[in-house]
Amino acid sequence: MRLGVLTGGGDCPGLNAAIRAIVRGSLVGGHEVVGIRHGWHGLVAGETVPLDRRAVAGILPRGGTILGTSSYDCFREDGGVAAVLASTNALELDGVVAIGGEGTLGVAHRLHAEHGYPVIGVPKTIDNDLAGTDVTIGFDTAVHVCTEAIDRLHSTAESHNRVMVVEVMGRNTGWIAAASGVAGGADVILVPEVPTPIEDVCEHIRRRHDDGKDFSIVVAAEGYPLTRSSGAQESPVAQATDEYGYPRLGGIGRVVADEIARLTGFDTRVTVLGHTQRGGTPTARDRFLATRLGLKAVELATGRDWGRMAAVHGNEIADVSLEEATRGRRSVPPGWIEAARVVG
Ligand code: F6P
Repeated sequence: MRLGVLTGGGDCPGLNAAIRAIVRGSLVGGHEVVGIRHGWHGLVAGETVPLDRRAVAGILPRGGTILGTSSYDCFREDGGVAAVLASTNALELDGVVAIGGEGTLGVAHRLHAEHGYPVIGVPKTIDNDLAGTDVTIGFDTAVHVCTEAIDRLHSTAESHNRVMVVEVMGRNTGWIAAASGVAGGADVILVPEVPTPIEDVCEHIRRRHDDGKDFSIVVAAEGYPLTRSSGAQESPVAQATDEYGYPRLGGIGRVVADEIARLTGFDTRVTVLGHTQRGGTPTARDRFLATRLGLKAVELATGRDWGRMAAVHGNEIADVSLEEATRGRRSVPPGWIEAARVVG
C-alpha cells in the first residue's frame, strides 16, 4: 500500500512520535509512506515529502510536527474537496492517516461519509476534548507544563502573600485546568463545565486568609466565562478569529485577577501560560501513547478499515468510527471538580 500521513490543527508534543510509529509500522508491513505538508492543505497544494526510515530518525523526542500543520478545511473552500480527491488519486495513495483534533478529523469524517474517502484518524489535542477516546496525544505534556508552572508560582505567591491567577488553554473544556490544578494543589479551579461564581472564589480566598494562609493559587481555563452569584455570565474578552474563522480564546485570566483584586483588595497577579503548553519535548507518556495509536492506525489502514479512529479505552488501544469521534465534545465530569474542591 501507499499511505499518506498528515498533521492538522494546532500542533502539540507527541505528533512526531505518532508520525514515526506510522512510518516504521508501515515499512515493516512492506508499505510506502508519503508525508503531506501542512494538514489537508498539502493535498490541495501538492506539497508532499517521502517518509522513509531515515526521515523519521531522531524525531521521537521533538515537539511540533516535521510535516507542518494548518487548520485548512477543504469543505470551506470552493473546489477544495475536488482538489483533495484529485490529488489523492494523482499521488496514487491507497489511504491517508490524519492526525488531528475536532477540525481535522471532522474533515476526515465528511470526506469518508460523503465521498467514500479512505482515511484513518489519530486523536491529538492538548485540550483532550475529543469524543470516542479517553485521552488524546499532547494532553499529558500540557498538564505537565502547567503543573510545573503552578509549583513555581506557589513559592513566589507565598513569599509575597499574593493571589496568583494562572490562565491555561483548553478551548471550551477544562481538562487541562482540572488536571493541572489538582496535580499542582491549586486552591481554586475555574472551568467552563462548572462555572464557579467569582463571589464564591473571593469568599474562599478570604477564608484562607482568615485561616492564616495569605496566598492563593487560582487556575482559570481560558473557556471559563466570568460568572456572578446571580448566575449571570459575562464574556468581557473581545473575541478575535484566526485565519480559518475559528474563535481565538485567551484573556479571562486578567479579568478574573482584576475582579479578585477589586472584590478582596488582595495583591493579585496573572500568568498566562499560552503556547508554552504546546511547545517542547513530549512526556514519556505522550510518546508511548502516540506510538501505540500510530501503530493502531497502520493496522486499521492495512485492514482497509477506513472511516475509523485509533482510540484509548481504559488501558487498551481500541478504535471508533470517525462519526462517533467527531459527534460532540467530551467535557470534564463534574465529579472531577467536586474532588478538586475537597482537596483544594
Ligand atoms: O486546540 C488547541 C489550542 O491550543 C487551544 O487550547 C487554544 O485555544 C488554541 O489551540 C490556540 O490556537 P492558536 O495556536 O491558533 O493560537
